[in-house]
Amino acid sequence: MNLTGTETQPTQQASEARASNAVIDLDSVTRRYAAGRRVITALDNVSLRIDAGDFVAIVGASGSGKSTLLNIVSGIDAADAGRVRVLGTDLNDMSEDRLATWRGRNVGIVFQFFQLMPTLTVRENVVLPMDLAGLTEGKWARADRLLASVEIPHLGNNLPSELSGGEQQRAAIARALANDPALLIADEPTGNLDTVNGLLVMEIIERLWRNGTTVLMVTHDVQLSLRARRRITMRDGRIIEDFTNPKLDEHAR
Ligand SMILES: Nc1ncnc2c1ncn2[C@@H]1O[C@H](COP(=O)(O)OP(=O)(O)OP(=O)(O)O)[C@@H](O)[C@H]1O
Ligand SMILES: [Mg+2]
Repeated sequence: MNLTGTETQPTQQASEARASNAVIDLDSVTRRYAAGRRVITALDNVSLRIDAGDFVAIVGASGSGKSTLLNIVSGIDAADAGRVRVLGTDLNDMSEDRLATWRGRNVGIVFQFFQLMPTLTVRENVVLPMDLAGLTEGKWARADRLLASVEIPHLGNNLPSELSGGEQQRAAIARALANDPALLIADEPTGNLDTVNGLLVMEIIERLWRNGTTVLMVTHDVQLSLRARRRITMRDGRIIEDFTNPKLDEHAR
């Protein structure tokens, strides 16, 4: 807001207002990997803004840079060039320790292969991020509420290996929500599930979105990508299409 009485162009004001609403703001981000003697450009000068409350699906061929993009946004991986700003925090020059703390408190991550800790019970898996973040008050009750919200209230004391794939993914979603993240990142969350379980997981993700969580999801499933409000297509490390679904646009918030 301009409180000083100095003149500000409306366009500048508008762009400042928009900037403050950005959950993800990538500016000219490049990530290269060395592969033997060759260099692979996994992300090639990508700029991308995603606003609070949006639901974005990322699609594209294998190797097009989708996971790399997610890993840069969650701070699991670092850009070689460009600026990475997520939830108002500049990730560029943060140490790995600070990144891990920031991620644990702000971002929920769901993977294709669930990645639950095999020696911990389902409840313990959900409590782990709370312990790591030091947010331990009422942690067991919270874990049980989360497991009930993904419809596996009866499986808290089981080991992950005693759950079906669909149940494991729901447990992984409960874990991702442990610290009430503003941003949920999911890399092929239904990639390892049959159709019925895939749809169940999708419905949970949609419910989270309607309740205000910003969602960024990679999927190979065209039908599922059509349920997102915005669909971004990648090829060779670049964004080649950015489509907003007009039908879902009105229901965005
Ligand atoms: N750690 C790494 N070391 C070397 N090359 C990598 C690494 N991670 C990714 N790459 C390469 O970067 C490119 C993009 O990979 P990325 O995993 O982002 O693709 P993707 O779109 O997620 O593919 P998929 O759909 O198969 O998961 C690929 O060519 C991949 O081989
Ligand atoms: Mg991938």
